[in-house]
Amino acid sequence: MEVIIAPDHELATLVADAVERLLREESSPVLGLATGSSPLRVYDELARRHEQDKLSFAGARGFMLDEYVGLPISHPQCYRNVIDAEFVSRVDFGDAAVQGPNGAAEDLVAASAEYDHAIAEVGGIDLQILGIGTDGHIAFNEPGSSLCSRTRVKTLADQTRLDNARFFNGDVDQVPRHCLTQGLGTIREARHLMLIATGGNKAEAVHQMVEGPVSSMWPATVLQMHPHATILVDDAAASRLQ
Ligand code: F6R
Repeated sequence: MEVIIAPDHELATLVADAVERLLREESSPVLGLATGSSPLRVYDELARRHEQDKLSFAGARGFMLDEYVGLPISHPQCYRNVIDAEFVSRVDFGDAAVQGPNGAAEDLVAASAEYDHAIAEVGGIDLQILGIGTDGHIAFNEPGSSLCSRTRVKTLADQTRLDNARFFNGDVDQVPRHCLTQGLGTIREARHLMLIATGGNKAEAVHQMVEGPVSSMWPATVLQMHPHATILVDDAAASRLQ
């Protein structure tokens, strides 16, 4: 695990550089895409490079980390719609090149298995972009998640619903209670993990992830067991590191 402490915009540049290298070196690169606030600067920078430097995503595939269950598919906060608006529609991915777990499926168990299968079928994820929740979740693997878990239905923790109420007009009652999420075992199979955390509200989760004992109660500690994990944090998020 390497930890890089730098201002927010530099962190975004470093992640965008890694994505650019992958796109230029691999003929069929596979990206893992997080939603939420943490990767937004990365997506802005990649969209800028697409526009100005002709960086192309035409040969790439993308897999999202998670999706709410229980929102109408037209809801602007469906992660599928969020990633389209924030990133996918701004670059040149091919049709259907970006997939997410199907939170609207009638059979969520089958949809979860199909999703893991789809990732395996393309040879796995080369570079997975991650954020971290204030309770230490990655994707929506809340505290108590098995370190070997696969894509499945999870119940969102109260803290996560409170944290995400800002995307639902500040109304926690509008935040879904369930989601489909890649499991910690699924995420661990990506070849390179790049996790971005900024702001003092992430400081305890970052401290536990980097310096705490590996435990399902702080799910991001699973990154300590990954052979190629890069943690990118600003000063505030790094403030509790020893
Ligand atoms: C989103 C996701 C979540 C977020 C985390 C942090 O796809 O997987 O784990 O990365 O909740 O959210 P932000 O970045 O909004 O602080």
